[in-house]
Amino acid sequence: MNRRDFMRLMGLSGAGLVLPGSVTHALAGEAAMPDWHLGFQNPRAEELHTPSLKLDGRLPKALTGTFYRNGPARHALGDRRYSHWFDGDGMVHAYRLGDGRISHHARFVETPKYIAETRAGAFRRPAFGTVFPDAERAASPDAINVANTNILPFDDRLLALWEGGSAWEVDPETLATGDRVTWSDDLAGAPFSAHPAVDTDGTLWNFGVVPGDGALVLYEIAPSGKLRRADVVALDASPMVHDFAITRRHLVFLLPPFRLDPERFGSGKSFVDSHRWYGDDAMQVLVIDKRTGGAGAGSICPPACTFTSVTPGRTAAASSASTTPVTTTPTSSPGPPAASCAARIFPMPVATPRWCAWIRATAGSISRS
Ligand SMILES: [Fe+2]
Repeated sequence: MNRRDFMRLMGLSGAGLVLPGSVTHALAGEAAMPDWHLGFQNPRAEELHTPSLKLDGRLPKALTGTFYRNGPARHALGDRRYSHWFDGDGMVHAYRLGDGRISHHARFVETPKYIAETRAGAFRRPAFGTVFPDAERAASPDAINVANTNILPFDDRLLALWEGGSAWEVDPETLATGDRVTWSDDLAGAPFSAHPAVDTDGTLWNFGVVPGDGALVLYEIAPSGKLRRADVVALDASPMVHDFAITRRHLVFLLPPFRLDPERFGSGKSFVDSHRWYGDDAMQVLVIDKRTGGAGAGSICPPACTFTSVTPGRTAAASSASTTPVTTTPTSSPGPPAASCAARIFPMPVATPRWCAWIRATAGSISRS
């Protein structure tokens, strides 16, 4: 099955769609439609079933299992269309392999946002890259959670993940949406990124960025699904932290001088458009000791921005782009941007002293268990 076959499977024929003027000309005939346009159309239904996909070649009969994918799928609703490809509501796909065949099943993740906007017949809440003029104010990160970025089988559960809100349970068989995942009562609603990492011993590591207040929540979750510990790193600002790397002993975060501008955010711009490049500032490298959680260090680097990282042996949510290799050498005080990442490290405030207002209001203090 090639990509165009996949798009046809999804029912992306273009009928009845409202698209920006820049692309509508391409929909006059599917033959004229580039593949990438097809990816921005809604599927034909809220749930899709294809019992047997057309295959090019043959699959070994002994190859069995389910391959899950997740991604933005509802890009338009009513007369409105998102302008950023990260905005659409998430749809989880299950490709079930067995007896030399593949079936496909897909279903939207019915988050509170999805349900409310479906009822309203229009996008009403702000999204990562699109904010309509009459958008409602987001009451919490999960009010705008689209669960569209990653899918994680973990602890016999299937978790649909987004960058800035809670994980959402999805039934591995029916793909029906379950509950919001709450790792502990006092972490309810705390952001849980879409790019966790499963360690070699099965431990799940992850982080969440609390926008506006510069707080980084760290999670260590046992293979059983029980939260082992959580910490909060207080940052000076809100850099766009999208991913992290793990080593045998450390978690490594690159904190770029690409940061949220509270004024822009407050003026109604989208989350991504509220970020600014502060090119005179350094990029910081935050290193967390996995054994203690509370011990951190920061290394100052020349200004740079990264989006994803590569960790050899990382088994979940694998990222595909490379980052600057991190080398750290302890010193005792901060200084100006150095010529390389090997130069300066300083103690970072780790855990709770500048616990942000949003977390304090919604989550209380962090448990250590
Ligand atoms: Fe991401």
